[in-house]
Amino acid sequence: MALELSELKNELARLGAENDAREVERGSRMLNITPDTGEFLAVLVRFGAARRVLEVGTSNGYSTLWLAEAAAAIDGHVTTLEFAGDKVAMARANFARSGLGEHITLVHGDAGQWLAQAGEDSIDLLFLDSDRGQYAGWWPQLRRVLRPGGLLVVDNATSHAEEMEPLRTLLESDADFSTSLVPVGNGELLAVRNA
Ligand SMILES: C[S@@+](CC[C@H](N)C(=O)[O-])C[C@H]1O[C@@H](n2cnc3c(N)ncnc32)[C@H](O)[C@@H]1O
Repeated sequence: MALELSELKNELARLGAENDAREVERGSRMLNITPDTGEFLAVLVRFGAARRVLEVGTSNGYSTLWLAEAAAAIDGHVTTLEFAGDKVAMARANFARSGLGEHITLVHGDAGQWLAQAGEDSIDLLFLDSDRGQYAGWWPQLRRVLRPGGLLVVDNATSHAEEMEPLRTLLESDADFSTSLVPVGNGELLAVRNA
């Protein structure tokens, strides 16, 4: 399975890049993380023994596969949220091909609504890669669902630094969180909830 999975990830990275070079409308783009970001996320999951992973923003499932491969190795599970029906269909097909289906729950719905009903302290690692305009509004729920000692990872922290500013300000003024900006891929903002 390992070789096939790496081939599937390579295929999705290539198709995503080709698609995004063609498409101008944001909703039609895959907007996948970079492969080195995928490796970084996988290391974080394994190092943190993060068995309960939440991803906000599935797209076609490329980043989910990196998270789920690592989670599967430690008997963990990834829940991933996506509200666009066409992306959900693509992700579902890719998860079926990956052999990782039993380690992934794909939720077709709005992330804000899902977060509002999620359990307190229920997530070990939360990967946020969605609608940046909503991050600050989602912050009370993101904060609530992440367990003490849990890790928030936010993509596009350097590629879209200005749009990230409201969330970054909230994080940096929150005494319960310690942050670090890591220059991998499009920039990953890490915030650990102090235990
Ligand atoms: C940057 S893409 C995710 C890319 C994916 N993480 C990857 O690297 O393969 C952001 C995704 O978030 C989805 N999205 C935006 N707002 C959302 C919301 N309120 N609830 C759920 N999904 C949302 C978009 O439809 C889009 O597919």
